[in-house]
Amino acid sequence: MVSKSTISTEFLGLEMVSPIILLSGCVGFGDEYSRLEGFSNSHVGGLILKGTTLEPRLGNEPHRVIETPSGMLNSIGLQNPGAKEVVDTILPKLEPLETHYIANVSGSTIEEYVDVCRAFDDSLVAAIELNISCPNVKKGGMEFGNDPEMSAQVVESCRKVTAKPIITKLSPNQADIKLNAKLCIEAGTDALAVINTISGLAIDIDKKELVLGNRAGGLSGPAIKPIALKKVYDVYQVSKKHGVPIMGQGGISSPEDAIEFILAGATTVGVGTALFFDPLICNKINQGLETYLRANGLSSLDDLVGGLV
Ligand SMILES: Cc1cc2nc3c(=O)[nH]c(=O)nc-3n(C[C@H](O)[C@H](O)[C@H](O)COP(=O)(O)O)c2cc1C
Repeated sequence: MVSKSTISTEFLGLEMVSPIILLSGCVGFGDEYSRLEGFSNSHVGGLILKGTTLEPRLGNEPHRVIETPSGMLNSIGLQNPGAKEVVDTILPKLEPLETHYIANVSGSTIEEYVDVCRAFDDSLVAAIELNISCPNVKKGGMEFGNDPEMSAQVVESCRKVTAKPIITKLSPNQADIKLNAKLCIEAGTDALAVINTISGLAIDIDKKELVLGNRAGGLSGPAIKPIALKKVYDVYQVSKKHGVPIMGQGGISSPEDAIEFILAGATTVGVGTALFFDPLICNKINQGLETYLRANGLSSLDDLVGGLV
C-alpha cells in the first residue's frame, strides 16, 4: 500500500494516492487483476472498467490481439455483459474504498451513450469516461471521436444525464485533436484522456490475408509513446486555458515515461499494455516517482504538470 506520500494528487475532485490510473480493457472489471500477489487496486489512483455498451456484446471474431514490435494491436470489439449486468452484478462486488472505479462508456448512437451514462449515474463509479472511438452507425460507421462536432455532441448529451465527472477519451486518428479538445471542453467535459489507440493493420504473408478478425485494430504500448506525448503536449495548450486536466496515456511503462507525460501537461497517467508484460509495473512506477520528487527537492507532482521550461 502506498502510504501518505508526495505522489498523491487530486483529479476531478478525487483524492488519489498515485497519479496512475489502470486503463480500460487492460484490467477487466476490476476484480481479476487485484488477485495478483504483490498488487492491490489500492496502489493506484483509479481503475477504469472495460468498455460497456447498453446490450451485452460477444466481441469480434479471432484473432483479436497480436503482438507487434514494442506494442500490440487489438480489436476486441467491446466484449462486455451490458450495462445492466455491470451495474447490478459486477459493481456491488467491488470495494469502493480500495480505489476510484471509473466506468468506460461506449455506444454506436448518441442515444446509446446517454442510456449507458444513465445506468452508471446512480452507481458507485467515481467518474464516467466516454470512449468516443466507436463507429456512429447513423453516420455510415465514422468514428465519433474522429469528428470534433460529433465528439462534442456525445459529451453534451451525456452531460445532461449524469452528475458524475466526465472524462472524454480523445482519438489520435484525426486531423485536429486541439479543436476536438476545445469543443469537448465547451460541451462540458471535466477532463480529457489523451490518447486512445492508433489505428493499425497486420498481414499474414503466407495466407495473404489480414490477421485480425475485424481487419484493423488499435495499436498500443511503448511503440506509440512519442505520438501520445505529442498529443498530450498539443491538447495541454488548449486545456490549460480552461483548467481542464488531462489523463495522459499511450505506452507508459516506466517512471520516466510517466514524468514525461506530466511535464507535457498530464495530471494523471494511464497504464495499460505495460501490465501485460509486467503486471507489477505500477509499484515500480510509484517508487520511481517518489525517488524523482525527492531527488529534485519537489514536494508534489502537481508542481511538475506542464512544467517544461
Ligand atoms: C486489449 C485492449 C483492450 C482495450 N479496450 C478498451 C476499451 O474497452 N475502451 C477504451 O476506451 N479503451 C480501450 N483500450 C485502450 C486503452 O485503454 C488505452 O487507451 C490504450 O491502450 C493506450 O494505452 P497503453 O499504450 O498504455 O495501453 C484497450 C486497449 C487494449 C490493449
